Amino acid sequence: MNLRDDARVLWTLLRGQPGGATHAERLNRFYAPQATRYDDFRERLLHGRGDLLAALATHLPSRGGRLIELGAGTGHNLAYLGDRVDTLACAELVDVCAPLLAQAQRRWSGHDNVVVREADATRYRPEHPVDAVYLAYALTMIPDWYEAVDNALEMLRPGGVLGVVDFYVSRPHPAPGRVRHGALARHFWPAWFGHDGVRPSADHLPYLTRRLEVLRIDERRAPVPYLPGLRMPYYLFVGRKV
Ligand SMILES: C[S@@+](CC[C@H](N)C(=O)[O-])C[C@H]1O[C@@H](n2cnc3c(N)ncnc32)[C@H](O)[C@@H]1O
Repeated sequence: MNLRDDARVLWTLLRGQPGGATHAERLNRFYAPQATRYDDFRERLLHGRGDLLAALATHLPSRGGRLIELGAGTGHNLAYLGDRVDTLACAELVDVCAPLLAQAQRRWSGHDNVVVREADATRYRPEHPVDAVYLAYALTMIPDWYEAVDNALEMLRPGGVLGVVDFYVSRPHPAPGRVRHGALARHFWPAWFGHDGVRPSADHLPYLTRRLEVLRIDERRAPVPYLPGLRMPYYLFVGRKV
């Protein structure tokens, strides 16, 4: 942790997402000033990503697996697979944000089986069906997030798995067995993160559970840097395409 780097990242977060003619343009302008400092700060903000990759690893073939990360940013999350990356036939890192993808390109340049793609998660289609698709803190930044889920399902082979980890809030009356957040949390977190183009939703989990066979759902809370005492709700979902 470097306080000066943190201050720069916090300043871009406090200013909020800048304007722009397209979604990609807005993201480029938001992330360009923080791209090289992105990973260190997000390590303390975006929890559960290692757990998601560990869960997905159990569903990949021992050799020759194919997987895609949508909204991959700097390509940091694939590294949670460790040596398993070398057993993959192909890992595709998809994002619309060029400054973050430049970091991903640098990180994975020595790996012929890792490919960086500048493309929209709601439209990108791989050449071959894949074993796993995952999104880490990306659905909340994709305005048409349900299209990204539908598109991910199109990319998967039958029996393939979709993994998601992201911020969320509950519905006022969630499904039986699901966590209920109080009214303050349900209103505070979307307002707080909305400023930066992040939209914690009450609809992700209901939609994911409707579209896939549920293999795992964890509902958790985690600390937020520089907001002492507050814990942001996030979920981890793994489901199978039926
Ligand atoms: C909070 S970041 C998470 C990045 C990375 N998954 C991580 O865990 O560090 C959200 C990412 O979603 C990307 N994103 C937003 N909308 C997108 C879209 N329509 N298609 C592809 N990527 C998108 C952003 O550019 C950004 O890299």
